[in-house]
Amino acid sequence: MSKKELRIGMIGYGFMARTHSNGYRKVGNFFPELEHKPVLKTVCGRTKEKVEAFAEQWGYESAVTDWKEIVENDDIDAVDICTPNHLHAEIAIAAAEAGKMILCEKPLSRTVEEGQTMVDAVEKAGVQNTVWYNYRRIPAVTLAKQVVDSGKLGKIFHYRANFLQDWTINPELPQGGEALWRMDKKVAGSGVTGDLLAHCIDTAMWLNGGIKDVSAVTETFVKERLHQETNKVEKVGIDDACIFHCHFDNGSLGQFESTRYARGHKALYTFEINGENGSLRWDLHDLNRLEFFNYEDESEVRGWRSIHVTDGDQPYMDKWWVPGLSIGYEHSFIHQIADFLESLEKGKPCNPTFRDAQETQKVCEAILDSASSKSWKETGVEW
Ligand SMILES: NC(=O)c1ccc[n+]([C@@H]2O[C@H](COP(=O)([O-])OP(=O)(O)OC[C@H]3O[C@@H](n4cnc5c(N)ncnc54)[C@H](O)[C@@H]3O)[C@@H](O)[C@H]2O)c1
Repeated sequence: MSKKELRIGMIGYGFMARTHSNGYRKVGNFFPELEHKPVLKTVCGRTKEKVEAFAEQWGYESAVTDWKEIVENDDIDAVDICTPNHLHAEIAIAAAEAGKMILCEKPLSRTVEEGQTMVDAVEKAGVQNTVWYNYRRIPAVTLAKQVVDSGKLGKIFHYRANFLQDWTINPELPQGGEALWRMDKKVAGSGVTGDLLAHCIDTAMWLNGGIKDVSAVTETFVKERLHQETNKVEKVGIDDACIFHCHFDNGSLGQFESTRYARGHKALYTFEINGENGSLRWDLHDLNRLEFFNYEDESEVRGWRSIHVTDGDQPYMDKWWVPGLSIGYEHSFIHQIADFLESLEKGKPCNPTFRDAQETQKVCEAILDSASSKSWKETGVEW
């Protein structure tokens, strides 16, 4: 069968551009039934030598230094936005107006207002769109969704999640510029809330439904840092840590914590759900495992079971090796690409769409508003 080409224009050549490029290259080998095949057409970065080296390394046909050349190129079908957050809206809106499909990195935007312009643009243009909340596509997390949807947990009482890191403790670490754009509020929009909690919120609402209202505290432990672009010591605008609790629409309580000051933790994303008849928990550091407590088990053998999610009848795992063999972080991106390609064949949305990701923006903004006003805030989420 000759495949339809999906010609990709990649913007950015950093961390995420690598994970996505790897995904485009591998998806056809492991999902041979798909009608479309990605073609790595053009990559964009601002530094000519670096972007050309990236194109060579990952197999892009060409490299450009202005993202508009990708958006305006008739030989490109889909634009993949892997730039820092401040560029997501401008690029996505231009790509939508040019009729391109869009795969945009998370968080969708810096603010709800900005996110809405993006939702409006893709919906007006009628172009296929998705946001890379890739943790949904880790097989153990997808299995958690199946268990929750099966009703096995019964009424849900609690949802808790953490995303802990430790890379900004050093007060000498500058803010802004290449590699440190996450420390600059103008570019990132927020700190851990948009960067890390956005992932936790997306997974949480996918598993447990809409978040109704929030009460949050944030802290910026290092108040001033040298800005790499201005070479001046400037106020730090981002949240270094954020703790919030919330009500979900289903009546359960949520508790979330994220920080870049948890010494010893690099990327400890964990979540746990407690229901009337059972509980689930998951840990990114052991990502193939889902732990499940089922109160309906016979009492003599009742206890937490540790499910190694590697069997062929578990989500996505029939595509990989043989039962018992693990996969990793990078596979979540391959799965999202496979689902995106399948969504084209089926004429369905590839979740989370811009509209779904905008709901996460609403929660993020309510969190920051709650922290600054020291009061509960309604999110306005429609899930
Ligand atoms: N899904 C996830 O788990 C995940 C993980 C990390 C980052 N992200 C998101 O991915 C996006 C990129 O993050 P990253 O970690 O890859 O950052 P990065 O700093 O590694 O890469 C950013 C890239 O954007 C390029 N860039 C900056 N300005 C540009 C411009 N004007 N034109 C063209 N290219 C430009 C940079 O040169 C760099 O190649 C962010 O929105 C981030 O929040 C998502």
